[in-house]
Amino acid sequence: MKVSIQKLCQWKQEGKPIVCLTAWDSAIASLLDSAEIDLILVGDSLAMVALGHPNTLPITLEEMIHHTKAVCRGVKNAFVVCDLPFLTYQTSITQAIKSAGKIIKETNADAVKLEGGYPAMVKTVARLTEIGIPVMGHVGLTPQSVRVLGYKQQGKSAIAQENIFNQAIALEKAGAFAIVLEHITPELAQKITDNLSIPTIGIGAGLDCDGQILVTADLLGLSEKLPPFAKAYTDLKNIIINSVSQYSEDVKNKKFPN
Ligand code: KIV
Repeated sequence: MKVSIQKLCQWKQEGKPIVCLTAWDSAIASLLDSAEIDLILVGDSLAMVALGHPNTLPITLEEMIHHTKAVCRGVKNAFVVCDLPFLTYQTSITQAIKSAGKIIKETNADAVKLEGGYPAMVKTVARLTEIGIPVMGHVGLTPQSVRVLGYKQQGKSAIAQENIFNQAIALEKAGAFAIVLEHITPELAQKITDNLSIPTIGIGAGLDCDGQILVTADLLGLSEKLPPFAKAYTDLKNIIINSVSQYSEDVKNKKFPN
């Protein structure tokens, strides 16, 4: 059955962990859907894992829409969220409405995700929610701010922790239906999770979030470098290299086709 926002909130109440992964094309998305993943994020990390960029900053709205359409074609049941790329929502609320609206009109995504908190993003989330576009928040390490934050764990000092906590509370009040907590201490993630009625989805934020998300390329062992909090469940990179080398040998030795 198709996963809804109501289901995600119900699962938080019931203490049922929400399983989330990223996808960038129809084939991967369809496999994740077959494995009954609850929520699939078309994350802007696809700039790195599928398009060869060094970070998430260069990806465009058109590219995100192209990949989200493909992902949606592969999904029957999972809830699909599309990331708003860098500089397609930060300059004004009008720009955010146009970009998020284009995603919702042109793809089958169920919601959008944006990075950051107050004051500007909280107002943006409130306006998008008001006009009927569901928004997932994202606080802690926000990769679109890599030039300012790097990829370091966030919320180390008491002031930084209070800031992240307040942003999460403000995003819920503004209408966000869920929030990604990236690379913050488990204690802070637990405090936020306990104080919100919407689900928290952790990545590098400990066990006490309502759900977990990983970049699927990391899980499959396809990434060049794994973040410290990620886990590769298989070594697809070497499986692919070995299979392709075997094929190459067979062609060179006239063993394929046989
Ligand atoms: O772009 C992405 O893949 C993300 C996840 C890391 C949450 O935002």
